[in-house]
Amino acid sequence: MSKVIILGAAGHIARLAAKQLIKETDDQLTLFVRHPKKLTDVDENRETVVVGDVNDEEELTKALKGQDLVYANLGPDDTDKMIPHIVNAMHNAGLKRLIWISTLGVFDEVPGKFGEWNKQMLNPSGYLPTQAKAASEIEASDLDYTIVRPNWLTNKDEVAYETTGRHDDMKGTEVSRKSVADYVVKLIQNPQKDVRTSTGLNKPNTDGDKPSFY
Ligand SMILES: NC(=O)c1ccc[n+]([C@@H]2O[C@H](COP(=O)([O-])OP(=O)(O)OC[C@H]3O[C@@H](n4cnc5c(N)ncnc54)[C@H](OP(=O)(O)O)[C@@H]3O)[C@@H](O)[C@H]2O)c1
Repeated sequence: MSKVIILGAAGHIARLAAKQLIKETDDQLTLFVRHPKKLTDVDENRETVVVGDVNDEEELTKALKGQDLVYANLGPDDTDKMIPHIVNAMHNAGLKRLIWISTLGVFDEVPGKFGEWNKQMLNPSGYLPTQAKAASEIEASDLDYTIVRPNWLTNKDEVAYETTGRHDDMKGTEVSRKSVADYVVKLIQNPQKDVRTSTGLNKPNTDGDKPSFY
């Protein structure tokens, strides 16, 4: 049994991962959220809700103490500003293992026309540069991190994904939130897996110039 804290636990992928963890493991989950009213389906035997903002280091440190692993499902804005607080709070609480949900393109790894389209879509808002900075801050830390880079997300009720490595080109154009949750659960169940590296996630055979739903 592990004690897992989920930061941004009301997020879509986070809820899918929590449900899968409850079904497949005996882990105890701490749901760290800004807005607890968004959590409508808490399993009170397995999930403890803690209200807080990750940018409040004191609040975060308190929540992290006694946990085994941190799964951060945060975004979309100002993620680069969150990392120093998360790293400090993890140091203060004596924690090493971080699973961080990032996005495709943070290592400029998306090839061809789809890569250009992705930049056009994500750069103007500042989202991609911010996420890229967050990823490099994590890589510069001493944490046992996994930076997860999902492709464009869908809500399809399917687990269908393949992975690419830190220095590989991203493949495909989409992946389901349920698939990302499944990969996160695999990491939580095998905390030595994919440590101090980054994994891209895509649905097989979805290569194209943009996702099919655009
Ligand atoms: N859309 C795409 O195609 C795509 C592709 C690849 C990666 N991604 C990334 O994947 C991430 C996860 O996806 P998702 O669908 O699960 O996202 P989501 O539903 O938007 O969840 C993100 C959560 O982060 C929380 N949060 C933000 N700032 C916080 C803070 N300072 N302290 C505590 N909690 C905070 C939000 O809380 P509140 O509810 O309080 O706002 C929200 O619940 C996204 O954030 C995005 O960056 C997206």
